Amino acid sequence: MSDTREYFDDVAAQWDTMRKQFFGDGVRRAVIEAADLRPGALVADIGTGTGFLAEVAIDNGARVIGVDLSEGMLQQVTSRLAGRPFQPRRATGNELPLAPGEVDAVMANMFLHHAEDPAETIAQMARALKPGGRLVITDADSHEHEWLRTEQHDRWLGFDRADVARWFRDAGLEDVTVEDTHELCSPTSTCGTKASITIFLARGVRRKQQS
Ligand SMILES: C[S@@+](CC[C@H](N)C(=O)[O-])C[C@H]1O[C@@H](n2cnc3c(N)ncnc32)[C@H](O)[C@@H]1O
Repeated sequence: MSDTREYFDDVAAQWDTMRKQFFGDGVRRAVIEAADLRPGALVADIGTGTGFLAEVAIDNGARVIGVDLSEGMLQQVTSRLAGRPFQPRRATGNELPLAPGEVDAVMANMFLHHAEDPAETIAQMARALKPGGRLVITDADSHEHEWLRTEQHDRWLGFDRADVARWFRDAGLEDVTVEDTHELCSPTSTCGTKASITIFLARGVRRKQQS
């Protein structure tokens, strides 16, 4: 975990440039549309990085809590969103610093494949939602690019969509869908191998009445 933190601290100042080589704006448009944000909504962005999702959520009228384990990333996003309704919280995805029912939506782009225990993290995300709140996650489909573990500290080589849907349902979410975004994640290894990995969007709604 501390290796991952050091990696993201090291790349924080270059992350915006790196990210543009990996994936484009279509991903965040898909997340914002799926989150169906109301003006003034309180949203948690997990693995917020430099604020790729947070910035556009605020542009759409939301207030954002940005969670990340990297101090470097949090410094970047705090400076980018200075004066805007953004609150940084430093924590790991396994111990989310969110109260039960605190937020209207939780979103996470390209964070889940870094999570220690994705099912547990999804359960914690779901608990943080108000009844009727939405969880929206975009991440990589299953792939075989092992070099992403060593070069970019990926813990998981993407996910099977059926597993993600099951974790959402096990977390008590309903109306669960996991669909193709028609967007790609395209990193290049240090020896020149270019990956082209499809990105899914998973969405679920917290039951209005918990049984
Ligand atoms: C691939 S970047 C994505 C950043 C941002 N969501 C984006 O789309 O540009 C992953 C982010 O998750 C953070 N991260 C990685 N592992 C984490 C963990 N276990 N807990 C919390 N944050 C983590 C990293 O510091 C980094 O900011």
